[in-house]
Amino acid sequence: MKKIVIAIDGFSSTGKSTVAKLLAKKLNYIYVDTGAMYRAVTYFALENEYIGEGFFKEEELVGRLKEITITFKLNEDLGFAEVYLNGKNIESDIRTLKVSKYVSPVATLSEVRRKLVEQQQLMGKDKGIVMDGRDIGTVVFPEAELKIFMTASAETRAKRRYKELLDRGHELSYDDVLENVTTRDHIDSTREDSPLIKADDAVEIDNSHLTIEEQLETIVDMAEELIAKA
Ligand code: DC
Repeated sequence: MKKIVIAIDGFSSTGKSTVAKLLAKKLNYIYVDTGAMYRAVTYFALENEYIGEGFFKEEELVGRLKEITITFKLNEDLGFAEVYLNGKNIESDIRTLKVSKYVSPVATLSEVRRKLVEQQQLMGKDKGIVMDGRDIGTVVFPEAELKIFMTASAETRAKRRYKELLDRGHELSYDDVLENVTTRDHIDSTREDSPLIKADDAVEIDNSHLTIEEQLETIVDMAEELIAKA
């Protein structure tokens, strides 16, 4: 059976990765969380103090991009791949509100995008992949057979994210999460290089009132139809 590329784009905390992971499992496809790659570069920038409150040493970060190797490795117990920075598992380090706060400015840098997009294109060259992010259907795989654009209101997304972070034991306020979500929306959709926009041929799904099962079913149906035709 022929394989296809499935691009899932959308605003932060729309639940893209939850659905993308389940979809990949169902189709026996590889899943790639491209947000984790931008978060890994941000983690590196924070560790080296290239970014922080009121400063961003862009050139210094760009000068060290060659030293950054990002890999994914399946965690058999969890059933999904975790992200590694230069061989170190940083999966939980990149999910903090601190990394979320600085990731959008880092993701505006063209040099960062070029490096990560190249790696993403290599990962998907044999198809059979579900990739989620902001520019997958527009820049990384403009020829993807199936493109989904996920949306939900900022409040719905902030509530989900707040609950997720609380469940993981983080201490934070709902207002901080909402502010992070709306600030990232703004930076991600207004940046010059590869802004978050819906591809013309993407199917938009507003999941404010949809369960994960409902979203999954809709996308699986579309994917299976396309795979049968591929
Ligand atoms: O999906 P996420 O929230 O983990 O992504 C983190 C940030 O990375 C997001 O605010 C914007 C950036 N990003 C991007 O610019 N392009 C992508 N393909 C994926 C994420």
